[in-house]
This record gives sequence, C-alpha cells and structure tokens, in this order.
Amino acid sequence: MKTSTILSAFLLLQPSLTMPLQPRGIKNSLKCAKVNVIQQFTAPWSLQRISATAPVTQNGRANEELSYKYRYTELDDGEGVEVYIVDTGIDVDHPEFGGRARNAISTFDDDLEENSGHGTQIAGAVGSLHYGVAKNVSLVGIKVFSPLFDTKNPAALIANITSGIESAILLHNARKANKNFKGSVMNLGFGFPKELFEAAGNGGIMKKMLEKAVKDGMHVTVAAGDRGKDACEVFPAGFVKDVPGIIVVGATDVFDKRLKNSDFGACVDLHAPGGDIVSTTLKGVNGGVKKDSGTFLAAGLVTGVIAGEIAKNANLRMDPVGMKRLVKDKALKGILRGAEGGGDLLLYTGMPGNPYEEFV
Ligand SMILES: *[C@@H]1O[C@H](CO)[C@@H](O)[C@H](O)[C@H]1NC(C)=O
Ligand SMILES: *[C@@H]1O[C@H](CO)[C@@H](O)[C@H](O)[C@H]1NC(C)=O
Repeated sequence: MKTSTILSAFLLLQPSLTMPLQPRGIKNSLKCAKVNVIQQFTAPWSLQRISATAPVTQNGRANEELSYKYRYTELDDGEGVEVYIVDTGIDVDHPEFGGRARNAISTFDDDLEENSGHGTQIAGAVGSLHYGVAKNVSLVGIKVFSPLFDTKNPAALIANITSGIESAILLHNARKANKNFKGSVMNLGFGFPKELFEAAGNGGIMKKMLEKAVKDGMHVTVAAGDRGKDACEVFPAGFVKDVPGIIVVGATDVFDKRLKNSDFGACVDLHAPGGDIVSTTLKGVNGGVKKDSGTFLAAGLVTGVIAGEIAKNANLRMDPVGMKRLVKDKALKGILRGAEGGGDLLLYTGMPGNPYEEFV
C-alpha cells in the first residue's frame, strides 16, 4: 500500500474517532470461554506477529499495509495502567490516543510540546487505537529530549534523562496508594554509546535510578540500540548486567530476522517486531502516520504487552523481575534468525493459534 493510501484511510477514519472510541475494522467476533476475543483486521504486521505463533504470510502485501490481523482480548487492553514514555513528549491531541495521553513533565521547563514525533511513534506502538498493542492504556509523556538541547554537553543529556526517570518513579509511587492502582511501565526508547557515558561521567546516577525504578515496582523496557553492535556497549541497555530487572529489546523484520542495525549480544533479553512499523507521528505531519524501523518501536510493543499482562497477573503488578520471566517464558523460541548470542526469543502475547487468512 502506498503512503497516500494509508493517508486517505487515516483521514477517513478521523471523524469516527471523535465519536465512539471503537477502532475501525475491529469486531468482537468470537466468544471464548468467558473472555471476548477481539479481532482487528486493519492492523500493521507487527500486531499480527505478536499475537500468533506462525510467521506472517504476506501474499504480496507490502509491509506497511494495514490489512494484517491482530487478535487480543478485552483483558489485554491495559486499562488503568500508566505508561511513562521518557522521550520527546507525546502529541497528546492526536486522535489515535482518544484522550488517553498527557504530557506530565519536561526537564527543559518548556511548554511540553512534542517537536520531533519520536515519542509519539513509541506511544502509538504501545497504545494507539489502530497501531497499538494495549488500546486503552494511559500514555504519559516525560520529555527529556528537545531541539533546545546542547549536543556538546553529554553530562546535561544524561542529567536530563536521569531526571525524567526520577519523575516517572515519583508519579508511579504517588499512584500506589490509590485503591484502583493497576501498575506502571516505563519505556526507554533510546541508547547512547559507552564513550558518551564515559565523557559525561554521571552515568552511574542513571543506573542507580533504574535500580530504584525496579525496586519500587515499576516495569522498565529498554531499546537495545541501533548501531548493529554489542548492546552491552550501549546505555541504558548495558545496565541490564547490573540491573537485571529491566528488559532489553532487539528488533526483527517481517521475516523474523534480526534487523541488521539492531544491537545484539548477551545484554539483549528478547526481540520484537521493529522493521517497517506503522505508527503515529505528529498529527500535522503526513496525516499523523509514519512507517519507521528501530529498537525503539520494538521496545514499545513489549511495553504494550506488559501493560496487558498486568491486568491478567495481579501478583506481578509490582514485580518487574517476575514479569520479565513471564514475558520471556511466553516468547517464541528457536524462530528468530540472526540473534547473535543473546535474546533468541520473539515477543508473543500467548493468544492461542493463528488468524484465519483468506487470500483471493
Ligand atoms: C476504555 O475503558 C473505559 C472504562 O472501562 C471504557 O469506557 C472505554 O470504552 C474504553 N476505551 C477503549 C478504547 O476501549
Ligand atoms: C537539561 O539540559 C539543559 C542543557 O541542554 C540544561 O540546561 C538543563 O539544566 C538540563 N535539565 C536537567 C533537569 O538536568
């Protein structure tokens, strides 16, 4: 499908999005025991891949086509879970978020505006109506990257990120006392080389902050990095050696092959789709839809799956280590090609079976 087709499809669905929040192309078709199985037949390939055991059959369809099938249950929609996206902020008025997104903090004391689209892409993979895993999660932007940022000052970069992580922990801890607290996931969709951390000299404080996040019962998903090198040499991913409760995610393509640029090795816990992923971007750009590749998008999918698992496993709500074990146990084994010494596991929600595919 050409981008223009995606664009017009998007524009067509905007009016309906302002009314009831039922995504287009989604229907409750099967009743399975007590839980409704919902099928979205307008999904990106990534959502089909994580909800099926079989590889994606394209039958001539392009990667960006929105005719793949995502199957989930109403228990997987992440309702009540807060996801802290530490990044560039979120375009919170994007209709794909149906009012579930807000920007909480900017470490730059600016207007909280998302200027890049990167944070909105992640938010879309986590929980947008059409491209997201958990379609009713609450998305919270924590802005730590800004065009205002002085790139010659790595210490300020690390300080901003660390401060953003701390803000997310404070928001998480403040919600714990609520009777209907459901848990939190923090998404770190970036990575910087070891040299930058060494030059900055304050990386140890960020590591301590991640230790605190895990100790305080917050699930943390981290992008492996996109340099095609050892993920242990990229941070925050490399902190997993000392903070094993965080989950480091590499990226695969539609053929279940590791992306060439996806960082690899012992610090990668598992892989998720990350090549040619359709998601949201700034609503004023290209109709608010963008196809892109990277471990930041793969990490977003894992974040969405964890948000869904929290509802089904109340005992793991505040147990990041137990949740990590569950996500790795459920993942598909021995399918991935090119894992290169770590994380030979492919994200899987555990939805039984495969979608019925009919081609004419
Ligand atoms: C999200 O959950 C609320 C409360 O249960 C419900 O009213 C709303 O319809 C749900 N929205 C979506 C998109 O499922
Ligand atoms: C974020 O970085 C800027 C420099 O670009 C710096 O002025 C500011 O103090 C930093 N904010 C925090 C909270 O560290």
